[in-house]
Order: sequence, then C-alpha cells, then structure tokens
Amino acid sequence: MWHKAYDSKRVLPDSILSCIRPGSRVYIESGCGEPQYLVKQMISENKQLSDIEIYTTIPLAGFQDFGGQYGSRFRIKSFFVSPSMRSAFEEGNADHMPISTTGLTKLLAQGYIKINVALIQLTPPDKKGFMSLGLTVDITKTIIEMADIVIAQINPQMPRTFGDGFVHVDKVDYIVEYEEPLVEFPHEELDPETQKVGENIARLIEDGATIQVGFGRIPEAALLALGNKKDIGVHSEIITDAICDLVENRTITNEKKDINKGKVIASMCIGTKRIFDFVNDNPMVELKDFWYTSNLQSINSHSNMIAINGAVEIDLTGQSCVGMSEFMGYFGALGHAIFNQSAMFTPRGKGIIALRSTSRDGKFSRIVPSFTDSRVGIITTQEDINYVVTEYGYADLFGKSIRERALALITIAHPKFRRYLLEEAKRLNYIYQDQVLPPEDAIYPLGLEHEKIFGGDKLMIRPIKITDERAIQDLFYTMSQNDKFYRFLRNMSALHHQQAQPMVNADYKNSIALVVTQSSRREGSILASAQFARENKPGLEHACEFAIVVHPNWQNIGIGTYLFTKIVDIAHDLGFFQMNAYVWEDNEQMLRVFNKSAVYMRKSLANHVYTIEMDINDTTSSS
Ligand SMILES: CC(C)(COP(=O)(O)OP(=O)(O)OC[C@H]1O[C@@H](n2cnc3c(N)ncnc32)[C@H](O)[C@@H]1OP(=O)(O)O)[C@@H](O)C(=O)NCCC(=O)NCCS
Repeated sequence: MWHKAYDSKRVLPDSILSCIRPGSRVYIESGCGEPQYLVKQMISENKQLSDIEIYTTIPLAGFQDFGGQYGSRFRIKSFFVSPSMRSAFEEGNADHMPISTTGLTKLLAQGYIKINVALIQLTPPDKKGFMSLGLTVDITKTIIEMADIVIAQINPQMPRTFGDGFVHVDKVDYIVEYEEPLVEFPHEELDPETQKVGENIARLIEDGATIQVGFGRIPEAALLALGNKKDIGVHSEIITDAICDLVENRTITNEKKDINKGKVIASMCIGTKRIFDFVNDNPMVELKDFWYTSNLQSINSHSNMIAINGAVEIDLTGQSCVGMSEFMGYFGALGHAIFNQSAMFTPRGKGIIALRSTSRDGKFSRIVPSFTDSRVGIITTQEDINYVVTEYGYADLFGKSIRERALALITIAHPKFRRYLLEEAKRLNYIYQDQVLPPEDAIYPLGLEHEKIFGGDKLMIRPIKITDERAIQDLFYTMSQNDKFYRFLRNMSALHHQQAQPMVNADYKNSIALVVTQSSRREGSILASAQFARENKPGLEHACEFAIVVHPNWQNIGIGTYLFTKIVDIAHDLGFFQMNAYVWEDNEQMLRVFNKSAVYMRKSLANHVYTIEMDINDTTSSS
C-alpha cells in the first residue's frame, strides 16, 4: 500500500523548487546525514531564492559557501560552528545561535521557530514502508513533525540504524531519489600534547563507567586512550570512528550500564565509512532523539556517568568557555554543559573538562586569569566544575575554593606560563601573597602513582603536590601530641600555612614526599606522608633527611614500613648515597621500622635523639 504513496511522492528537484518561497525558513539535516544533492539543487544552485533562513545543527563540509557569495539569497543560522564555515561567521555573514540540545528541541517542538521546508536524507524504504534517518537522528524527527513541507533525498548509501530514526513514507511530502557518497569527516592526526591529554582523561575513567564524549580532538584523544579499559558503556550525543575499535576489542561492551544495557546510545554518527558500516543494521547501536539522549533523566539514570568535553579556555576561578574567538575551531553548546553538570552528580560519575595547556603554536596559555576574547561563551560555570585535565595532569575542582582552584589550575598549566599565572592570581587576590610554586622544571613523577592494599583497603600512593597543603595540615591536626613530638622533635600545637607550605613544595629532585590517600577519587584526605629533602649541611651533598608520619587510625598495618622502602628507592634513584633520620630515643615504632630494614645503618644517641645514618647506595633491601 505504501508503494503507491511512495511513487506518487517521487519527484525531480526542478519540479519542487517553488516549495521554498522568498523568506522561507529551511531546515537542513546536517552532519554526515546532510542531503548534499538536495542542498545543491534546492539551495546552492537555486537562483530564485531571497532572504531564506537556513537552520542546521552541525554543518560540516557541505555548507562552506553559505555565508559567502550567496549571502543575500540565504543566511545560515547554526546551533554549532565548524571551521569550514569559520570565515562566514567571523565576517558576520552567518549567525550562530548558542543553545543546548534540550533547548533546541523545545525551540523547534514548541514552535518558537517555524520551519517551512525540511530537507532530509533517508534510506530506501523497508518492506513495511519505513525509511531510516541513518546517521543523523538528533532533532530530525521533531523537524519532520513540525515542518510544513518535508522533502527527502533517498540515498541507498545511507546506513539503516536502530533507535528513533525510522520514518514512514506517510511522513514525507516529496521524495527525490539520488545516490551519492555521504559526507565523511575523518579525524585529523592528534599532536603529542593532545594525545597526552587523552591519556590523562583515561586515568580518570574506571572500568564499567558510561561515557559521553563531546565533539572534537580532545574527546577523540580520550577515546583513543581507552584501549585497556573494560566494560565501558556509551551514552553520548555524537559517536565517531574511534568507537569501532573499542567495540571490536571489547573495551566498549555496555554490559555494566544501568539502562540500555548492551547498547551504544547516541544521536548522531560523525566519521567515515568505517563507522557508517559499523552502525548499519547493527542492533547494538541505537540512535535516539536528542530529547532522549541529552535528557537529564536519561543521564541521571547512570550511576557512573563520565562526561568528557573540551574547552577553549578555562579561567583561574574554574569557569570554562567554548566559542567564537581568534582560535575558533568547532564549537557549540550541544549537551556539553548538561552532560558535565549531570555526570558529576551521578553517584560515581565525573564531569571532565579537558584542554591542551597552550594554543597549538604554544604561544598562549589556555588556562587564563580571565578570558581573552569577549566573544567567547562561558559553557560551564564556576558552580558546575569538577575535573579539569591538561597534558600536565588533572585537578579536581569540586568543592574547592577560588584559592584552591587557582593554585590547582596553575599546577596543570604549561610550566612556562605558571609564574605569570601565579603573579596574576596574586594580583587578583585569588591566592596567598606568599604562595610559592615548585620550580618550572619540576615534573610531577606520575610513574610513582600506584595503588596498594593495606588492612583490606585499597589505598592510593602518590607524590605530594603543592595543592596538598590543607590536607597535610589536616593530617597534622589528627596526630596525638606524642606523635607530633616524635615527628618534629619539639612540641608543636599548630602547623600554619607558612610551615605547611614548604612541606608540600617538592621539586621531585632535591625533595619529594609520597602521600597515601584513601582512594584515587578523592585527593582531599591524606593518611600518611613520607618525605626526604636534601641535607643543607656542608659535606652532606649526597645526603638527605627522612621524615614520616602515619595517621593514628592507620598505624601498625605496614604503611610506614612500605613508605620507608619506597622513599629509600626513590632517593637512591635520584643519586643520594646517604639518608639520615632523627628519632627520639623511645620512639619504638619508628625504630622498629628501621630495624626491620636491611639497609646498612649507623646509629648514635645524643640528647635523647638517635641520629640514624643509612647507606642507601645499595638498595637490595627494598621491595
Ligand atoms: C613511626 C610510624 C611512621 C610508623 O608507621 P606505621 O605505619 O605504624 O608502621 P608499620 O605498621 O609499617 O610498622 C610499625 C611497626 O612498629 C611495631 N610497633 C608498634 N608499636 C610498637 C612498640 N610500642 N614497640 C615496638 N614496636 C612497636 C609494629 O608492630 C610494627 O612492626 P611489625 O611490622 O614488625 O609488627 C608511625 O607510628 C607514626 O606516624 N608515628 C608518629 C610520627 C613519627 O614518629 N615519625 C617518625 C619521625 S622520623
């Protein structure tokens, strides 16, 4: 029965040019679903047009000319900007409408914008007369419902996808059969810095997490770094070629998802033939309407949702922007802010904003005292910031003050901009006026981070950071008076900022500390700290001083012994020959830790204090 309707709707573009009247609003399906032939026939080569408004979501290559030479015939209004249209937007010949995907659905579904003609692209019909939107489902169903006239290009090269994208022949007004290759969007080679950002993001993703990935190089780098994870789920507006390998090697199984178990959920595919073939007739992938994918309820139904999105800049207070600037790349709100905000509040979730620490030419810091271009749009606010990642590591800003944020962000800025940012942060009174930073060449020794089980708990052991000051103060204030005396060999009732700051200012060459935290997720509380610093005495250039403290509730389960052997190893590797410790005469616990070790030691007692000189040239004792 539908065959008859199909045949009656089949036309050549020439016969329907008059559907688009002067002043019409036309919606064009975008991304890799762009109906290129229809666009060419109905818009680009249609000389009769005047003052047409063209709406799109993610315009890729096919829209290059829109704001240019044809500007007076039609003007594009896009919810997303891509580099291919950069000049049109920069020169004011095209309009960008910043709006979230949820807002976009409301805008169109509730008639805030009336679409007169929709140009879409579909597969040929199946036995029941259903055609598939294929790669771009996003808001196209809403458009089909709301537009006065729907013109569909039927392209047998369009993959047939599961989810919300089926459209019955009854729902379209005109059918133009035309086969052509689809718009492809291969990802560019990633530079080493961007790859490193991806690796740092991957460190924050646990097995079994469900991820949303934004559009662009940074989210792509994160996907490429996920290779050794297990049972990752995908609930994302956009999926790209990168997911194909991850499904094939079973990194992505979707088996641990709380909803849509076993399914990749997305709204658009952007990529090449690789992903087009992958999603074709593949029940593992469901392309859903934005209204579902970017909906708060859907996102919040995941207990371990990780949102991964890029930003152009982040300021020292923790707000990030994407938008029109001289560094303009791809930008647009999409569900970026909603995903970031919702993911960080799911029980084990995280919102990750990631960026390269500098512009591609290395000339500008992307971590800035304040945004460099007034045209940029703030996309995540100070309130809704969680993790920020660069190639120099990550900072968890959740629950942090402006002072703590500014300092944490400076530590993941490019080293050559850290002094400048420190001075700016002081000028703005964001941080202490006497705040110090490790020297520019101090590189956080990531390789020393590891986990180990003590007393049945998996604990994180990592090098100390300048941002650990408050946590070191907290540890001090949990210690008994006795332990404080043992640690400092004098009675101390307070550990002020001025005293705590040098304890966390490691250069990882002359001084370092290993701290123990309860889990890799929370940097807040430190359970133990063991450190050494180069001795400042003449003749002791190759000697360092050791000190340690373990939280009272975590003593006698082996932490002290373990940290001591690790610190000996590190000092040895950094070229120290000797390690000294000064221990009160009745500190049996500390003496026991040393006595258990096979490191050669000389012990001498004076004024109730043992001076213990350890020969660490040979570290056969270490495990
Ligand atoms: C000293 C200190 C770091 C040890 O940390 P820890 O995590 O408890 O150490 P471990 O659990 O690895 O080892 C402690 C050892 O002391 C032993 N011990 C505990 N109390 C003891 C006592 N009164 N007499 C003798 N040995 C004792 C434990 O049995 C254990 O030995 P074992 O492993 O052979 O059983 C911790 O007690 C501390 O923070 N003290 C306060 C600060 C301090 O003294 N710092 C040293 C300054 S250099």
